[in-house]
Amino acid sequence: MTIQLKSYEDIAAMRVAGRLASEVLDFIAPHVRPGITTGELDRMCHDYMVDVQGTIPAPLNYAPPGYSPYPKSICASVNHQVCHGIPGARVLKSGDIVNLDITVIKDGFHGDTSRMFCVGESSIAARRLCDITFRAMWLGIEQVKPGATLGDIGHAIQRYAEGCGFSIVREFCGHGIGRRFHEEPQVLHYGRPGTGERLEPGMIFTIEPMINAGKRDVRELGDGWTIVTRDHSLSAQWEHTVLVTESGFEVLTVSEQCPVQPAHESVA
Ligand code: MF3
Ligand code: CO
Ligand code: CO
Repeated sequence: MTIQLKSYEDIAAMRVAGRLASEVLDFIAPHVRPGITTGELDRMCHDYMVDVQGTIPAPLNYAPPGYSPYPKSICASVNHQVCHGIPGARVLKSGDIVNLDITVIKDGFHGDTSRMFCVGESSIAARRLCDITFRAMWLGIEQVKPGATLGDIGHAIQRYAEGCGFSIVREFCGHGIGRRFHEEPQVLHYGRPGTGERLEPGMIFTIEPMINAGKRDVRELGDGWTIVTRDHSLSAQWEHTVLVTESGFEVLTVSEQCPVQPAHESVA
């Protein structure tokens, strides 16, 4: 396995792409309300990326081996949809939770980030799932430093999420990212400490746990893209693009309104 180490110039370009991806989420956030369709959210994000940012929506026509070209510019995954939900005529209603996953290309480099949104008034259970998934992503990010391993990241996420009574989706993982959307390594959201590839300064990858309220099993819908939980339980996901620095990590997908790193409760 060869994990590419990014040059100083590559890293500068990845900072720009990462910020732009996060700014698309800042832009769309106030529009994620009851009554809007996921197709309308896709159209607004598309136009913002292309006309305002001068970025390319990476999902549009993306076709990894074995997949048909992805038909839209963002992924919108509602309630029991785990990931890769195709935007369309579905109307968001109060109580829904939706993941919007944005990947932009700027000057040849990719920035990839997603957030959960609660539409109108969501149940306590739905809000708890979104909150714990956010914290799980951050616990993974906080493992990132030279000498740590990919297994350390997966373990931190798994231990916390399963300890909360939730399950981790295993079929999809984080990924190296740069000039290509999906590069090595695969960043699993479960694992054992000290196992897997060792992290080095200059590596860039995503951490994007998908966490289910029920069982971990998933299936693909007939559209060839949308992934749902088999038991129809709610699923949540958050994603950041992260650089390994000399002393730790730098999150590249940041913007003015992106939710900040949670504080750790200290035990007195
Ligand atoms: N953005 C997703 C990820 O985090 C990939 C989406 S592929 C698409 O890796 F084609 F569905 F957009
Ligand atoms: Co990703
Ligand atoms: Co993504």
